[in-house]
Amino acid sequence: MVKPVKKAIFPVAGMGTRFLPATKAMPKEMLPVVDKPLIQYAVEEARDAGIDEIIFVTGRGKAVLLDHFDHSFELEQILRERGKDDALNGLLEVMPRPGQISSTRQQQPLGLGHAVWCARHFINDEPFAVLLADDLIMAEPGCLAQMMEVYGRTGGNVVAAEDVPREFTNRYGILDIIEDDGTLARAQGLVEKPDPKDAPSTLSIIGRYILQPEVFGHLDKQDRGAGGEVQLTDAMARTIGDIPFHGLRFKGRRFDCGSKLGFVEATIAFALERDDLGDDVRHMLKNYV
Ligand code: UTP
Repeated sequence: MVKPVKKAIFPVAGMGTRFLPATKAMPKEMLPVVDKPLIQYAVEEARDAGIDEIIFVTGRGKAVLLDHFDHSFELEQILRERGKDDALNGLLEVMPRPGQISSTRQQQPLGLGHAVWCARHFINDEPFAVLLADDLIMAEPGCLAQMMEVYGRTGGNVVAAEDVPREFTNRYGILDIIEDDGTLARAQGLVEKPDPKDAPSTLSIIGRYILQPEVFGHLDKQDRGAGGEVQLTDAMARTIGDIPFHGLRFKGRRFDCGSKLGFVEATIAFALERDDLGDDVRHMLKNYV
């Protein structure tokens, strides 16, 4: 019996330099895809997967992310008075229960591994999930729910994985695979952002992780890796041998909303899926292509 995963860390302290100027004063996780901010998609995915405790690792200028999950009494009152019940209920549905959401600060953006480490006191000795909201995933069931199902069988560390063209391996953490059934791959090592010619495979880690608390023992050392950052991939790699590590090729589509092109594609794909917008958007797009 594996220990259930009830806590999730959302690292939201990055600088978002690829999305400037939009991210100068606004966190990239608040960028809306159609009408919902990226962070809300990720929080909903986590809840649908059984997550009960939400931990944000924020940085300077990120307070608005927490406000998004708090009451806005004036707005709620106005919606009530105007009979805008659907809009009001939409706001109330995302409200966490008291105490369900916590936050800590990453005072300097020293890397994803450092951001996760900043949340260590909320996790203690339990398995936990990490979700990067800028990797937006369209999937049913959600990507983290698919990973939970696999985790129930494998235990250990499980990440979402996707095959990428070889020329892009230098953008991702890459699995060194020892066993692979085409859906689930077991890794014997991991490399962060390898040169295409050195990459041990083209199976890349994307922004969903189920991790055992042992990873903190390696993050404690604060070793700098690729790009001079404290890399989560390096700490995860050091647990292999003690803890099984699997990459799941999830069913669904992932959009890199930290990049402009990925964000535009996500906006179109999500709009096309909407009952209230899909037909109109399809019609509109015909005028452009
Ligand atoms: P990215 O690699 O996308 O970095 O981080 P970034 O700073 O957000 O964006 P660019 O590359 O400058 O455009 C992946 C995830 O890790 C978080 C980010 O918020 C994002 O969700 N992160 C990254 C942190 O929380 N802290 C860090 O020090 C680095």
